[in-house]
Amino acid sequence: MGSELTYRRHESQPTSESYSPKPSWTAVTGVARYMLRERLVFLLVGIAIATSVFTVIPFTTTTTTGGITDAYSISEPVQLMSTRRSVYPTGFDSFNLGGKIPLGLKRKGLRIAVTGGAGFVGSHLVDRLIARGDSVIVVDNFFTGNKDNVMHHFGNPRFELIRHDVVEPLLLEVDQIYHLACPASPVHYKFNPTNVVGTLNMLGLAKRIGARFLLTSTSEVYGDPLQHPQVETYWGNVNPIGVRSCYDEGKRTAETLTMDYNRGAGVEVRIARIFNTYGPRMCIDDGRVVSNFVAQALRKEPLTVYGDGKQTRSFQYVSDLVEGLMRLMEGEHVGPFNLGNPGEFTMLELAQVVQETIDPNAKIEFKPNTEDDPHKRKPDITKAKELLGWQPKVPLRKGLPMMVSDFRQRIFGDQNTPAATTTSSSSTAMP
Ligand SMILES: NC(=O)c1ccc[n+]([C@@H]2O[C@H](COP(=O)([O-])OP(=O)(O)OC[C@H]3O[C@@H](n4cnc5c(N)ncnc54)[C@H](O)[C@@H]3O)[C@@H](O)[C@H]2O)c1
Repeated sequence: MGSELTYRRHESQPTSESYSPKPSWTAVTGVARYMLRERLVFLLVGIAIATSVFTVIPFTTTTTTGGITDAYSISEPVQLMSTRRSVYPTGFDSFNLGGKIPLGLKRKGLRIAVTGGAGFVGSHLVDRLIARGDSVIVVDNFFTGNKDNVMHHFGNPRFELIRHDVVEPLLLEVDQIYHLACPASPVHYKFNPTNVVGTLNMLGLAKRIGARFLLTSTSEVYGDPLQHPQVETYWGNVNPIGVRSCYDEGKRTAETLTMDYNRGAGVEVRIARIFNTYGPRMCIDDGRVVSNFVAQALRKEPLTVYGDGKQTRSFQYVSDLVEGLMRLMEGEHVGPFNLGNPGEFTMLELAQVVQETIDPNAKIEFKPNTEDDPHKRKPDITKAKELLGWQPKVPLRKGLPMMVSDFRQRIFGDQNTPAATTTSSSSTAMP
C-alpha cells in the first residue's frame, strides 16, 4: 500500500497551464471584484472605528496642573509610569487643565498612596492631594493615627482607606507613594519600630509597579549634631544603641534602603528630612514638646521643661511641610532635603510663646532630661530654597494659635473653654 504522504500536486494542477509568479489580469480583476463585493464594507467600517478611537483618546496628553506640567499617556501601562516626569515651578492650589482635552474628557488626577495618611502630617497631605484632584489611598494601622483625621473624605470616590500594617507586604497600583507610616514621637516609636521593614516593603511595591517613592525621614538622622545649622551633607552624630536609636538609626537605614532601590533597581525616589513640625491634629500627649506644652497650658498644668531648657529646636507649621513634600515629590531632585523652619527657639522661649498664646500664668516645671536629647537643632534649607523653590511661610506665633484652637476643641469638646486665648499671633518680642 502506497504512503498517504505521496506527492500529488501534479495531479491537482492542470498540466496545460504554465506557472507564472505574476498574477494574470483575470485573477486581479477577480480579487478586486471580490473585495468590492465582500470586504470593502468591512475595510471601511474598520477605518471608521480606528479613526474615531484615535480622535477620542490620543496617545499622549499634556496637562498643566496649576503650575505642574505633566506629560503622560492616559492609558499608559503601570510599567511605564516610572519614566514619567512632572515639573513643579510654582504653587498648585488650583487644578487647571491645559493641553488637548478631547471631547470633554478631563485629565485624571494621579493615584497616590499615603502610608500613615491617618496621622498628623499624613492627613494634611491627603487634604491637599484630594483638593488637587488626585485619588488617594491611605494605608494606616491606626497605631498613632486616627480615622477622625480623614473622616471628612469618607464618601469621596477619590478617597480610600485601608487598615494595614506596612510591615506586611501590600499590592496596590498607584503612581506615587508618600511613605510616612511610622510612629514619630518618642513615646510611641519605642514600642513600634516600623522604619526598616515597612520602608523595605513599600520600596518593593514602588519597584514592582513603577511608582515614585517619597520617604519622610527626619532631622534625627543628624543625632546630637556637631555641626550647626545642619546641612544635608552632614553625616550626623547618632548613638547606635541608645533609647532613641530605633528611630534615628531606623530612619538612617530607611534612607540607605531608599538610595539602594534608586541605584540598584532604578526606583524614582525622594527623601525629605523633616524637622520638628506642629499643627492641628497632632496627637495630644504624645511626648512631643509643642503638643505637650499646648495641652498642659490648656489644662492649667505646669509646662514640663526637660533639662535646663536651653536646648534649641526649630518649629515648622504643618502646611509649610506639606507644601515642601509635594514640591519634592513633583520635582526632579532625589534629595535628601531638609524641610524645616530655620527659626530657632530654646525650650524656654517656646514655653514663653505658649504662655503668651494660651495662659500667661502657666507655670514651668523642670525635669531631668531624657537620654540622648540633642542640644541643638536648626535646618539649613539653602538646598530646598534653590532646588525646590520652597521655604516656610508661617512663623511660630501665627501657627501656634491655629494649633491651640484645634487642641482646645479636642480637649474640651467645644470653643467655650476655661482657658481663654490671651495673646494673638501678633505678639512681640520673640525671635
Ligand atoms: N511631625 C514631625 O515633627 C516629624 C519630624 C520628623 C519626621 N517626621 C516623620 O513624618 C512622618 C509622619 O509623622 P507624624 O508626625 O504625622 O506622625 P503620626 O504618628 O501622627 O503619624 C504616623 C502615622 O503612621 C501610622 N503608622 C505607624 N506605624 C504604622 C505601620 N506599621 N503601618 C501602617 N501605619 C502605621 C500611624 O497610625 C499614624 O497614622 C513619620 O514618618 C515621621 O517619622 C515627622
